[in-house]
Amino acid sequence: MKRVSAVDVFLVLSLIGCSLWTVRSSSSCKQINTMEVRPHSVSITEFGAVGDGITLNTKAFQNAIFYLNSYADKGGAKLFVPAGQWLTGSFDLISHLTLWLDKDAVILGSMNSEDWPVVDPLPSYGRGRELPGGRHRSLIYGNNLTDVIITGNNGTIDGQGSIWWNKFRNKTLDHTRPHLVEMMNSTEVLISNLTFLNSPFWTIHPVYCSHVRVQNVTILAPPSSPNTDGIDPDSSDDVCIEDCYISTGDDLISIKSGWDEYGISFGRPSTNIIIRRLTGKTTSSGIAIGSEMSGGVSEVRAEDIYIFDSHSAIRIKTSPGRGGYVKNVYISNMTLVNVSIAIRFSGLYGEHPDDTYDPDALPVIERITVKDVIGENIKRAGLIQGINGDNFVNICLSNITLNVSSKIPWNCSYIKGYSELVLPEACEQLNERISPDHFSDCYKLPDLIKSSSSRNRAAWFPSW
Ligand SMILES: *[C@@H]1O[C@H](CO)[C@@H](O)[C@H](O)[C@H]1NC(C)=O
Ligand SMILES: *[C@@H]1O[C@H](CO)[C@@H](O)[C@H](O)[C@H]1NC(C)=O
Ligand SMILES: *[C@@H]1O[C@H](CO)[C@@H](O)[C@H](O)[C@H]1NC(C)=O
Ligand SMILES: *[C@@H]1O[C@H](CO)[C@@H](O)[C@H](O)[C@H]1NC(C)=O
Ligand SMILES: *[C@@H]1O[C@H](CO)[C@@H](O)[C@H](O)[C@H]1NC(C)=O
Ligand SMILES: *[C@@H]1O[C@H](CO)[C@@H](O)[C@H](O)[C@H]1NC(C)=O
Ligand SMILES: *[C@@H]1O[C@H](CO)[C@@H](O)[C@H](O)[C@H]1NC(C)=O
Ligand SMILES: *[C@@H]1O[C@H](CO)[C@@H](O)[C@H](O)[C@H]1NC(C)=O
Ligand SMILES: *[C@@H]1O[C@H](CO)[C@@H](O)[C@H](O)[C@H]1NC(C)=O
Ligand SMILES: *[C@@H]1O[C@H](CO)[C@@H](O)[C@H](O)[C@H]1NC(C)=O
Ligand SMILES: *[C@@H]1O[C@H](CO)[C@@H](O)[C@H](O)[C@H]1NC(C)=O
Repeated sequence: MKRVSAVDVFLVLSLIGCSLWTVRSSSSCKQINTMEVRPHSVSITEFGAVGDGITLNTKAFQNAIFYLNSYADKGGAKLFVPAGQWLTGSFDLISHLTLWLDKDAVILGSMNSEDWPVVDPLPSYGRGRELPGGRHRSLIYGNNLTDVIITGNNGTIDGQGSIWWNKFRNKTLDHTRPHLVEMMNSTEVLISNLTFLNSPFWTIHPVYCSHVRVQNVTILAPPSSPNTDGIDPDSSDDVCIEDCYISTGDDLISIKSGWDEYGISFGRPSTNIIIRRLTGKTTSSGIAIGSEMSGGVSEVRAEDIYIFDSHSAIRIKTSPGRGGYVKNVYISNMTLVNVSIAIRFSGLYGEHPDDTYDPDALPVIERITVKDVIGENIKRAGLIQGINGDNFVNICLSNITLNVSSKIPWNCSYIKGYSELVLPEACEQLNERISPDHFSDCYKLPDLIKSSSSRNRAAWFPSW
């Protein structure tokens, strides 16, 4: 068990007076360190782009961005995309850039896979996620950048993903499918006020990034589209996602950190992830962690979540071979309507990059708190399965009321934890009552834990 300092005990005890579960809440993401106003601006039309939905504008985007690079050290620049249908292949962003899509501006992804070049696999995955070897680069891509804004007046970025979905279905893909937007090894990234449609694969993928804010975006893809996750923070820290509506064919948000032995040796966790005011539906999960979590996932806080017409609301996916950990997760104030399984943990998810993974690399899953949940028309409350010989521990459920149709609402194995005010009553593995005697077992009061920690991230968390 984690040791608790005298300061922690003092602060926690002083709060028990009002409520064991009080969490100080701030209502929006911290402003990130971007230059909101760019001194220089050009329109994509100045570079010969044609917004007819037919002309391929990859060169125009590349030339415009190359030109704007000369303003990077002068406060940066804005690339304005006016109303129109701007067909393009993959293009690369630069630091200190604002990509601005006006109302009725639509950036359309080319339907020719050659316009999405193949790049190296991510080191934390060792290979493409779907196929060995490289992967197609995202439509909008950034690597090694700082201070990047992708925003506008509800313009649209449409990946036209159906050809990729079909190639996936008929097994004719040569390489792993591309994301719609990928930012790699970048800091101070803001993505806001836009609509994202029909991504070929995961929609927004920050990987090896710090200080990312995704705010007020709509992400849509058909329920049947394969693996069209909404937002996947991957081996990234200090990520804040708020006020989003997401309806896709896979997880709305999936927090990841690399795959089996590659993720373990790369060793970059996802930490300090905040999700607020998420609304959406999916044939998969609302908020998922994993299944790639080999670099570790910790300090995740989600609140004010509304999930409807979905398979599950909260899902943790892992497997022997993953190693890593998922710990210190706090999810509160969730409303669920028409959800098959409210809470689902899968300890035997499977899916390995190759045969050289270490089956003895067992993930550590602990200190997961879910509280203040109300659910209507739920089939099953929980299918919570740990790993034989590797129990998931300190799973804490509080104040959860679900209208469940199944006669066996909870099905738990290889887990241990606590519960209070849970209806229908939680499984016996979770039936020990939450009390101050073991308050340090249940993850809560993240602000308090952060602000009393000596780690330098402490100053960051409470201010978001
Ligand atoms: C990113 O930085 C690394 C290390 O400096 C370098 O090897 C790589 O080429 C850079 N990538 C890009 C796209 O600039
Ligand atoms: C990440 O980007 C920074 C800044 O551009 C660069 O110094 C560093 O080498 C990059 N790291 C990798 C692994 O590419
Ligand atoms: C969300 O974006 C729309 C346009 O896309 C804008 O009208 C609205 O003010 C934004 N809301 C917030 C809270 O930023
Ligand atoms: C933005 O556009 C999308 C798709 O056109 C629409 O569903 C959404 O309601 C719009 N959002 C705002 C805030 O206007
Ligand atoms: C697979 O789907 C792609 C995209 O729709 C199509 O171009 C291709 O002809 C299909 N191949 C087979 C073998 O069905
Ligand atoms: C989103 O748009 C609204 C309305 O124009 C604006 O007030 C807000 O600052 C924008 N938010 C972000 C994060 O870009
Ligand atoms: C709970 O979340 C809902 C959105 O699902 C929001 O409307 C409501 O204000 C939140 N309640 C509290 C107490 O923050
Ligand atoms: C839930 O399902 C019922 C019955 O199918 C439907 O009438 C209702 O509109 C659904 N509610 C939501 C919020 O989707
Ligand atoms: C239980 O959760 C509901 C929201 O689902 C909230 O309104 C209520 O205040 C909570 N009750 C307690 C005792 O915390
Ligand atoms: C659950 O929902 C059904 C159908 O709407 C309703 O008849 C029943 O009273 C509800 N049960 C509870 C405990 O709210
Ligand atoms: C619990 O779930 C497991 C895996 O889905 C299944 O094999 C088992 O039969 C279930 N147990 C009950 C009592 O439903």
